[in-house]
Amino acid sequence: MKIIDLALSAAKKAGKLTIEQSQKPLKISEKSRRELVTNVDKASEKLIIAEIKKHFPSHAIIAEESTDLTTLSTNNSGNTSPAQNFAEAKYIWLIDPIDGTTNFAHGLPLYAVSIGVFKMDSVESSKNFEYLSGELVAGVVYAPKLGEMFHAEKGKGAYLNGKKIKVSKVAEIKDSLSVTGFPAHHRERNLPYFQAMLGESQAIRRLGSAAIDLCYVACGRFDTYWEFGLKPWDIAAGALIIEEAGGRVTDSNGEPLDLFGADILATNSLLHKKVINKFKKL
Ligand code: IPD
Ligand code: CA
Ligand code: CA
Repeated sequence: MKIIDLALSAAKKAGKLTIEQSQKPLKISEKSRRELVTNVDKASEKLIIAEIKKHFPSHAIIAEESTDLTTLSTNNSGNTSPAQNFAEAKYIWLIDPIDGTTNFAHGLPLYAVSIGVFKMDSVESSKNFEYLSGELVAGVVYAPKLGEMFHAEKGKGAYLNGKKIKVSKVAEIKDSLSVTGFPAHHRERNLPYFQAMLGESQAIRRLGSAAIDLCYVACGRFDTYWEFGLKPWDIAAGALIIEEAGGRVTDSNGEPLDLFGADILATNSLLHKKVINKFKKL
C-alpha cells in the first residue's frame, strides 16, 4: 500500500468516527487551562495509529494525544531534538486526530483530521544541535463535517476532493483576506501582528483549526495565514499541501519552516516578502 493511500483511508475512517461519536454526549476534559481534549480525539488517534502500525510497523509516529514532546530528548540548548529520538525510522507520521477540538466540543463543523508524513534522509549535526534532514512527502487534511478532503504528495500537486487546487493571485496586502489563530497559551503574543495586519488587509478571520487555515490558503480562499505556539501535528500536512498548491511556508521571519519551531507564516507566495517586511518592523 502507498503511504498516501493509507493516509487518505485512515483520515476518512477517523473522520467518519468523529461524526458518529459526536452524536453521543462527549467526555470533555482540559489537558491544561483552555486546552481541551475529548474522548473522540483519543478514539480518532487510536484508529489512525492502529492503521499505520498494521501497514507500516517500522515507521515512527508523533501524535498529539499520545506523544509527550517534552519527554523526547533535548539538545544542548534544552529544546526538543527529535533527531535523537527518530534516528532509526525512515518515516515519521505526524497526527492531529482532531484539529479544532474547541470547535468540535462546541458543535462547530470547522475541525479536521490532519496526517502528515516526513521522510528522513539523515540526522545532521550543526554546532549546537542535531536536526532531521528530510522532507514532508505526504499530507492529508480531512474536514468530515464539511465534506472536504485535501491531500498532497511531494512533487505531485495538491488536491481538494480529487481536483487540483492553486493558491490565490492576490498581490497586495490591502486586497488580502488573512487568517490567524491564538494558541491556548501566550495568545497575546499575536496581538501586535494581528493589529498590524488588521490595519492593512481587507479582513482577518479566525477559524480555530490550523490545518483548515493552511488548506484554505492552498485553495485560494485565504491569501495569508500566520500563527505562533503551534505543534508539529498542527502544520505538517497543511504545510505540504500549501507548497504543492504553489504557496510558500516559512517561519514568521522568513527562515525555513521548522516543524518543531512553533511559528509559521504561509502565503500565496506573492505576499510572502511583503508580510515578512511588515512583521520585521514589529
Ligand atoms: C489548535 C487549533 C487552533 C490553533 C491552536 C491549536 P487543537 O489545535 O489548530 O486553530 O489556534 O493553536 O492548538 O488543539 O484543536 O488540535
Ligand atoms: Ca491541533
Ligand atoms: Ca488536536
